[in-house]
Amino acid sequence: MSQPEYQSISPSDFFYRNREIAGFSNPSRATYTAVRELIENSLDACEARIVPPDIFLRISEVGDQKDTETKIYILRVEDNGTGLPAEHIPRAFAQVFYGSKYELKQARGTFGLGGTMAVLYGQITTHKPVQVTSSIGGEIHEFVMNIDIQNNSANVLKHNVKANPTKWQGTAVELQMDGDYSRIMYKLIEYLKQTAMVVPYADITYIDPRGRLYKFERGTLKMPPLPESVLPHPHGVDVETFKRLIASKKAKDMKQFMMDNFQGVGTITAERFLKLAKINPNMSPKKLTPEDLVRIVRSTKEYGDFKRPIATCLSPIGEELLETGITKELSLTEEDYIKVVTRKPSTYLGYPFIVEAAVSTGRTIRKTHGSGITLYRFANRIPLLFDEGSGVIWKAANKNINWKTYSVDSDTPLVIVVHVCSIKIPYKSVGKEFMADQPEVEKEVTNAIREAARGVRGYIRRRSRIQRERRRLNIFAQFLPKIAEFSAKLAGYDEPPDVEPLLEAVSATLPEVEENIEEVSRIVESSE
Ligand SMILES: Nc1ncnc2c1ncn2[C@@H]1O[C@H](COP(=O)(O)OP(=O)(O)OP(=O)(O)O)[C@@H](O)[C@H]1O
Ligand SMILES: [Mg+2]
Repeated sequence: MSQPEYQSISPSDFFYRNREIAGFSNPSRATYTAVRELIENSLDACEARIVPPDIFLRISEVGDQKDTETKIYILRVEDNGTGLPAEHIPRAFAQVFYGSKYELKQARGTFGLGGTMAVLYGQITTHKPVQVTSSIGGEIHEFVMNIDIQNNSANVLKHNVKANPTKWQGTAVELQMDGDYSRIMYKLIEYLKQTAMVVPYADITYIDPRGRLYKFERGTLKMPPLPESVLPHPHGVDVETFKRLIASKKAKDMKQFMMDNFQGVGTITAERFLKLAKINPNMSPKKLTPEDLVRIVRSTKEYGDFKRPIATCLSPIGEELLETGITKELSLTEEDYIKVVTRKPSTYLGYPFIVEAAVSTGRTIRKTHGSGITLYRFANRIPLLFDEGSGVIWKAANKNINWKTYSVDSDTPLVIVVHVCSIKIPYKSVGKEFMADQPEVEKEVTNAIREAARGVRGYIRRRSRIQRERRRLNIFAQFLPKIAEFSAKLAGYDEPPDVEPLLEAVSATLPEVEENIEEVSRIVESSE
């Protein structure tokens, strides 16, 4: 029997071999994921700079290519975000697991992988380097580079520094990749539309491979408040985090250590907790034995009096902005029902999260979406477009809620929007496609939808009453002139009475009809 050969591989090499787990499973999906990753990085950078994002996306075909299924495309994404300091550019784009978003605060990016994966996929399918142009306000740095996949490091091929007379700040990334645009076109446009829905303060311009221009204009300049980084919550730590904190932080004793390194731990909590964990508050953290460490971490789960996790590390969209975004992208009118709710923060496994939900129904929704439920799912302002049935949001909307109690039947057009934001979204894969079941998240999502749907029943009933009245009034309008003429003749008048005011009232648009019902009865009464 031959001996197996042992070797170690780098993170880049791992994702090169297993790219499907990062969303790069085939040419069409890879096209979609590459765009999504680059746009998300751009949006994160603009939000970090607190400027309304101006995002430019262009996908173009390289030269003259035969009519094959997949083609080589040039992908270009530009933003007006923070830009990157020159010394970080090579690693940020050409080293897997290098990034600036490992802090405990909400961001789209979490893994330090997405943008680099797009570069890696481009490289392995076209053998072309990536070009990154960026400035943090000073000089403009232009890098051309590729990834040394086996060593997980950047290979800088060119680095130019240019003057920046206009003080431009932002980043432009351009790469080539083998993709399949025609298969993913609708999904991609849907992604941009849904992004515009939850980032209503962004202007997104897209030029597709046929040169068609898509513009998603911002509906507001207001932005949600920036999330702040927070200390870890004791409920969320494990032995490894604890060990790292002990190694990296100075504290004279355990009581001080607990107070300095965890959120919501003051003198009294620290003393009570350490008593429960059977740790002397005056001992030095460096003297903890492995058994002590395990006991402390186990005790964090038992201690019930820690404060709830702080939610300032989260940045929900907010009811006003979310309503602006949905109304804009779904072209809702005043006749449609829309209710948006932002719930209070909750927690799962020590991580805070907030659920926002919106429910909309009405004539516009029927025209654009048809009957039945259409679900829009978002996590940290990222649209989740794949595997709808596997996610927790689908379950909450379709299984946990009895829609009959809201007078919603299978013919009712209903749009449900759910946004979950957290410092740790329980994604099932690094491709960020859907969320794993977490009972706390499921419960909150269900409650949020219920709260937003509370007014639906009243709206539906009022609408069907108005429609009935409208039908009745239409008949009235049809026969009134004849009745007037006939009555005038019977009464011996030369001229029939003027029925115009009544007819005007009955020909009004739907939301005015209810008002006009009263108006008509007044006119009828006064002419009696
Ligand atoms: N357009 C950009 N503007 C500013 N910084 C950027 C931009 N794109 C990438 N970066 C930097 O490069 C880092 C790596 O990006 P990458 O997409 O690989 O990982 P990430 O966004 O941190 O996490 P994720 O894997 O979840 O996307 C980011 O953390 C960020 O610091
Ligand atoms: Mg990213």
